[in-house]
Amino acid sequence: MEIDAEKYDRIASTLFAPVYPLIADQIISQTGVTRGICLDVGCGGGYLGAELARTTELFVRFFDRSSEMLAIACRTIAQNGLRDRADTLRGDVTAIDLPDSSVNLVVSRGSVFSWEDLTKAFREIHRVLAPDGWAYIGGGFGSRKLKESIEREMSSRNQGSDQFRNKVRRNLGAETITRFETALQAAGIVSFSILHNDDIGLWLVMRKFVHPGIIPSNRASNTQGG
Ligand SMILES: C[S@@+](CC[C@H](N)C(=O)[O-])C[C@H]1O[C@@H](n2cnc3c(N)ncnc32)[C@H](O)[C@@H]1O
Repeated sequence: MEIDAEKYDRIASTLFAPVYPLIADQIISQTGVTRGICLDVGCGGGYLGAELARTTELFVRFFDRSSEMLAIACRTIAQNGLRDRADTLRGDVTAIDLPDSSVNLVVSRGSVFSWEDLTKAFREIHRVLAPDGWAYIGGGFGSRKLKESIEREMSSRNQGSDQFRNKVRRNLGAETITRFETALQAAGIVSFSILHNDDIGLWLVMRKFVHPGIIPSNRASNTQGG
């Protein structure tokens, strides 16, 4: 189902705004990737990708299936003075129009929960990852405190409804972990770990090793099965 871009952006650009710098920090400290090409999949208004571009030397490709969202991402790129450090690309995560092994870091926040074919999506992300590249895919609000205050605010905006809170609980819950693991297995991807806690939310961290038996950096200690 297509999301209403302007409506989502009114929330993303205000209530969610403090979330993106925290998540960008978490991604950088987990992966250590600060140069090369970053692909923000399901970028929406582009706030996570923009934060990564602003705080690193990454060139960020903003990718989304919605042209309305990409129009907002273009506005974010311009507002942050990132025109020479970013571009946009439209498409579905299951068919990314980029060459094999061309992306050093894939990030994706809040999008994976609506991907229809997770196996195909993970396989496609793995295809575009460069050797020793990283993917950081999932959802969260940066910290438990921030998540709880956003949930309270969403509930009060929606006349006390728990709809938003329940959706977050479902998305970041155990069932999603099982879905991730099933899809990764079907895609034949063994180098990954799943980060899950109250502060960061739920993230799949995927690696692409040239020689799967060899773990090239100490950061890879989180990786299972590689
Ligand atoms: C909830 S929004 C999150 C936006 C942004 N990442 C953020 O954190 O603010 C989900 C985004 O994923 C995009 N999306 C959903 N399914 C997609 C798919 N299969 N391929 C590409 N983009 C997709 C939607 O168009 C939307 O912009």
